[in-house]
Amino acid sequence: MLFDIHPKETIDSLYGRDDDLSHLINHIENRRWIAILGTRMVGKTSLLKAGKSKIEQKKIPVLYINLWGVSSIKGLLGGIVYAINDSLNPVKKFKRYFNQINGIQVGPLGITIEKRKEPLSLTSEILSVLGNNIDELVIMLDEVQELQYVTAHLVKLLANIFATLPNITFCFTGSYFGLVKSLLEPRFDSPLYGRSPARISIRPFIRDVSSNFLIAGFSENNLRILEKDCDEVVDKFNGIPGWLTLYGNAVVISRLSHEDALKYVEKEAFKIQRSVIKHYLEGRNSKLHMTILRAVAAQSTWADLKGSVKAVTGKTINDATLKNIIDALTSSFLIEKTNSIYHTIDPVLRRFLLRGNLI
Ligand SMILES: Nc1ncnc2c1ncn2[C@@H]1O[C@H](COP(=O)(O)OP(=O)(O)O)[C@@H](O)[C@H]1O
Ligand SMILES: [Mg+2]
Repeated sequence: MLFDIHPKETIDSLYGRDDDLSHLINHIENRRWIAILGTRMVGKTSLLKAGKSKIEQKKIPVLYINLWGVSSIKGLLGGIVYAINDSLNPVKKFKRYFNQINGIQVGPLGITIEKRKEPLSLTSEILSVLGNNIDELVIMLDEVQELQYVTAHLVKLLANIFATLPNITFCFTGSYFGLVKSLLEPRFDSPLYGRSPARISIRPFIRDVSSNFLIAGFSENNLRILEKDCDEVVDKFNGIPGWLTLYGNAVVISRLSHEDALKYVEKEAFKIQRSVIKHYLEGRNSKLHMTILRAVAAQSTWADLKGSVKAVTGKTINDATLKNIIDALTSSFLIEKTNSIYHTIDPVLRRFLLRGNLI
């Protein structure tokens, strides 16, 4: 169902992403590692999970791991163990191999790990066991930027897998910053140098696709959306499938009126944007980043941005610092530049930032 608010898990429910999906499958079939990039709610997880179902139809096993909020290798290991128990039937298939690993127990419900074992080497051993005993394995790490504090460990682990287990293919999603940048543009001294994954950048739907998505979702439920309502939704939530889905769900499933549904989506979307911005500001100079973000929301040129910083902080920002901040915001898929004007990608984020109290 198109208006299901969970990430889509089947090809049939993934709308308007045929090209992205075929790129994903194609790369996986060629054992090329892939990074799926894009703004929040644009459909990265849905693409990944629809891809998972398609790959599984070809009898290739897939481990899907959601890393949101996971910041350590121990957390990654926990996610891998969960995914193995969920999708690989380890008790039947790999019991004797896992039993050989010191620190792992195989019980009736799957594998468990001993708390005291060092997580990095255990992760590496588990992946070796799988890679050496399965013809082909795909591992999907959703929101991999969460592991940025352990970048060096992760890059080493991945480089080792790349070199020794060519039958394991990784797919990543995340913001193009920090860790993801280290994966996509490894420096010459990085163990991943020359091995960077292919990129799939997911764009918001164009206008026509947004309208057709809404029409198709209504029609699935034997309903029709008025043209003027459809135009208004598309104007307000331009191209972000997550907001369009939430609107459709509110009208079709929760039976809200068009006006109430618009208000509801705006409110829910603001909550999500608040958490996105909060997360983005962690460990950063929030005053400066927020000043620039707000100026971007009002659509600014480079000179406008410098003027805004001066007006708010009383200080002149130098070009290098401004460039760093703009790069960070762009890489996190919060903003982009069109014809020398910086603006937010998501119109909801623009409205959220231009309101008064934020965080
Ligand atoms: N191509 C699509 N077709 C149908 N629904 C989609 C599509 N892309 C995203 N959605 C819906 O939008 C919401 C956000 O999608 P999700 O995959 O979680 O985005 P992301 O991982 O980029 O934040 C979910 O409710 C999902 O069902
Ligand atoms: Mg996601």
